[in-house]
Amino acid sequence: MKRIGILTGGGDAPALNAVIRAVTRSANNDGTEVLGFQEGWRGIIEGITMPIDWKTTDDKISEGGTILGSSRTNPFRRNNGVEMLKENFKKFQLDALVVIGGDDTLGVANRLFHEHDVPTVGCPKTIDNDLSATDFTFGYDTAVNIAMESIDKLITTARSHRRVIVVEIMGRHAGWIAAGAGIAGGADVTLVPENPFSLDRICKTLRRNRERGKLYNIVAVAEGAKLGGGEDFHTQDDGVDEFGHIRLGGIAKALAREIEDRTGYESRHVVLGHLQRGGHPSAFDRVLGTRVGIKSLRDAQSRRVRKDDCAQGR
Ligand code: F6P
Repeated sequence: MKRIGILTGGGDAPALNAVIRAVTRSANNDGTEVLGFQEGWRGIIEGITMPIDWKTTDDKISEGGTILGSSRTNPFRRNNGVEMLKENFKKFQLDALVVIGGDDTLGVANRLFHEHDVPTVGCPKTIDNDLSATDFTFGYDTAVNIAMESIDKLITTARSHRRVIVVEIMGRHAGWIAAGAGIAGGADVTLVPENPFSLDRICKTLRRNRERGKLYNIVAVAEGAKLGGGEDFHTQDDGVDEFGHIRLGGIAKALAREIEDRTGYESRHVVLGHLQRGGHPSAFDRVLGTRVGIKSLRDAQSRRVRKDDCAQGR
């Protein structure tokens, strides 16, 4: 194997650079060159490259974000996107493409592999941790710790002002980050999309905790949490991305208002948003990212990226 391409797509996640570094260094150790494509699928469609090697990735393990840049570009939604991508695959003389991304990015990789014979290895990434067949995805540990530490900080001001603070936590339609941060941060109530909630029950819990002598409350709410029992609750921002996904957001603000109206407790809301994807990755994520990167490279080398080889069970 002479040269492989690599790209990162979708929302960035802590430890993406650890994966890029592991793929690159393992490849270089075996005499394989690595060519980076910038900004997700846009990079290979438009031929925006970035040479990377053993040395340039050396100190990147501690950096958040992705040195390659990312986007939510969908080649199947761009005019001639797939054709341009295939031409560049040939032009840059790639033997395989390592694609690091979430369900959308890897959905494209899967289609390129099955419908267009492009040799690809998919490397799963998401802070949301909503992937079957694995306990953890890299990025989750860092994100959940950032959310937990934010709750720790919010407690001191909530306690000082005897307030309710509703903290909105990322995760799209999965409640892993909210659940982890809510439990670890000692929130009074934790709301996840998997378990639709009732406003009555939330307020009852907050009142009960106050009666027990707790003078403030923290509510951890996943951005995708839903109301049960037919109560109407608007939680979505406007706008969709190239994959047709709506942007979630707004639930904490609406919930804080409702709680204040119903209980009379002064309430505030905080949206943690992209802070949860920032900063340095945790040790756990760096190690997991490194392992995932090495495995992706080994899969590329074992020729499992070629449809013919798969069909023949190699
Ligand atoms: O899927 C990762 C994620 O961070 C979700 O938790 C969140 O809903 C979404 O991406 C935000 O996307 P963007 O960075 O496009 O605003």
